[in-house]
Amino acid sequence: MAVRQDTIWERFLKPAVRLLIDEEKLQQFYKSIDWQAESDRFQRPDLIYPDYYRTQNFHGIEGGYLNGSAATSYDAVTQYVLPPNEMWVRQGLIDAIQGTPRRILDLGCGTGSTTLMLKQGFPQAEVIGLDLSPYMLVVADRKAKTAGLDIEWCHGKAEETGFPDADFDLVTASLLFHKTPTTVTKSILRECFRIMKAGGQVLILDGNQNTLRQFNILCEVFEEPYIKDYAASSVDAWMGAAGFEAVQSKDLWWMHQVTRGMKPIPVQQGTASVHRVNKSSTIDDFGSEGIAAPAF
Ligand SMILES: C[S@@+](CC[C@H](N)C(=O)[O-])C[C@H]1O[C@@H](n2cnc3c(N)ncnc32)[C@H](O)[C@@H]1O
Repeated sequence: MAVRQDTIWERFLKPAVRLLIDEEKLQQFYKSIDWQAESDRFQRPDLIYPDYYRTQNFHGIEGGYLNGSAATSYDAVTQYVLPPNEMWVRQGLIDAIQGTPRRILDLGCGTGSTTLMLKQGFPQAEVIGLDLSPYMLVVADRKAKTAGLDIEWCHGKAEETGFPDADFDLVTASLLFHKTPTTVTKSILRECFRIMKAGGQVLILDGNQNTLRQFNILCEVFEEPYIKDYAASSVDAWMGAAGFEAVQSKDLWWMHQVTRGMKPIPVQQGTASVHRVNKSSTIDDFGSEGIAAPAF
């Protein structure tokens, strides 16, 4: 994919970020890995990459996520594009989790920064990170091993995970939805609903859609092909349409939002089956700014 040279990212931000990054250290890391052999450990031979993904650019790096250089530079760049502080932003998702999930799936886990925090927050849980890039999984696996965390890494599509129905009690996605076309995002949420146990929760951390709409320039900053569609929409509405209940979004540091929804628990009443949200899992304490989920 050709990289546009006239974006704000290319002209101003990339050179500034380059000044902050220790490129020599990144080069050393890149060269220390046999990318072909390491990515082959995760690569599912039957997986066909969707077109929207193969052609995706990532902050000016050619070839999207399907190479070792994107996986090498991802963490170094990301720390500067999640103000005010990457860890505080990610912690916003962890803090929004209710109860103690036992089986967790992190979709589009990338280099595993949020996945590691999920395992650290819930050490007894089985934690799985899934991503379409085997290169990102190479870095995620290294980070988990360095931190002594037992996490399973899966190469796969978030919209078609291959996991059985009702397999997880928590499904998360951080910084994924601004990267996927709306039709794919909706499919991902339907897949979340399918693989989630009744009463389970889904948590989505991403750019703040209200802020992005108000300050359109933020959408122009990066070369993100789907971010304008993401900004124009509503994660709450997408979740409601996928069947989740008690959907609420909370602002995180103005630039980000975390959205939570619950899979309803079916209740038998006479012969009719109705749904109810587990009272112990409602999200009353999640702030008052959330919007009720439109059911369309
Ligand atoms: C911006 S990164 C976010 C990574 C990580 N979740 C984080 O918070 O840093 C987006 C990730 O989503 C992955 N991805 C994009 N579309 C995907 C899909 N349909 N299924 C699985 N992973 C996907 C990319 O490979 C990339 O690693």
